[in-house]
Amino acid sequence: MNDAIPQLLTYDETALDSAFAAVSDEVRSGASTLATPNAQEAFRLHWLGRKQGRLKLISEAWLKSAPAEARKPLGIRFNQLKQEIEAALEAPVAASGAAVVRGIDITLPGTVRQPGIAHPLLQTMEEIVRVFHHLGYSTNLGPQVESDFYNFEALNFPQNHPARDTQDTLQIANQGSKASRDRLLMRTHTSPVQIRTMVAQAPPIRIVIPGKVHRNDAADATHSPIFHQVEGLCVDTNITFSDLKGTLDHAMKALFGSGVKTRFFPSFFPFTEPSADVQISCIFCGGKGCRKCKHSGWIELLGCGMVDPAVFAAVTDERRKLGLDDDAYNPDRITGFAFGMGVERIAMIQHGISDIGQFYSGDMRFLEQFA
Ligand code: DAH
Repeated sequence: MNDAIPQLLTYDETALDSAFAAVSDEVRSGASTLATPNAQEAFRLHWLGRKQGRLKLISEAWLKSAPAEARKPLGIRFNQLKQEIEAALEAPVAASGAAVVRGIDITLPGTVRQPGIAHPLLQTMEEIVRVFHHLGYSTNLGPQVESDFYNFEALNFPQNHPARDTQDTLQIANQGSKASRDRLLMRTHTSPVQIRTMVAQAPPIRIVIPGKVHRNDAADATHSPIFHQVEGLCVDTNITFSDLKGTLDHAMKALFGSGVKTRFFPSFFPFTEPSADVQISCIFCGGKGCRKCKHSGWIELLGCGMVDPAVFAAVTDERRKLGLDDDAYNPDRITGFAFGMGVERIAMIQHGISDIGQFYSGDMRFLEQFA
């Protein structure tokens, strides 16, 4: 910028016009380079600085030797000049504001909005439930804080029976003053909802019960003290073990593909007689034998069996207490089957996951794979 103060020798209109036009030009050429806030501040100081500002220096120089009659037109023109300078300082702000409105930078990455998804365990749980909904089952839920009666006794686990040891139980504190059947605990399985359902309604029953269960187990690669099950119960006249086999064979094919085979292995549960473990042909090796199936060709997946008459008897007792003396669960007429499966185990086999802890880690790199 030109720092010398321009000379003004005469004060007639023409001389003022050309002198101010020259300064105006100077302002305009400076105003064309105001792209950054720093340049704007430098421009402002250069022109409007209180002590050394160019506007002040020029007006002092020109007013000093001005005749009295020239003072007014000079003052008016200096005011206009000041407005020009201020307008130049406003302009870049307005210009950049307009750019925001008009210009969209299509090279920017943009805002990615990730929609939430159901947790993989929930996805598997819903998938299992859906298979049974298609067979005409409905869903029932029950409480996680359960009484000893529903969790064990009514399911034919008597007090102190060794079968209770298979389900290491988390007891609710300070229950000592209650009758043993009323003591509260965290349910160890979803089976107590079988009892709750049968006490509340007469056959025919076809229900699935998804939910959370709790056991005092140490966490390792395949165990977690809190996990999920889907229980099933079918009670009616003429329900046989063949119905159980057909239903579960269909469900396993629906979940793991029509190529899987099922096999029923004798087992024991207090609330079913006979009881079985259901195994499917190994989906990793097709049954040839691999590490996943411990070289047996089969993977054990769930427990099942025909409802034990002792369970119907406990249900009938409860219904009588409620005034329902209706013989609805007379074992001479009524039979049923039940089954229960672990959701984590099924999800781990579906997705080839070897550490159950991944489900609970909240690690987005794991969870994102199920979106
Ligand atoms: N409640 C059993 C458990 O948690 C699983 C089970 C087995 C449920 C057999 C059933 C059944 O309904 O019939 O180990």
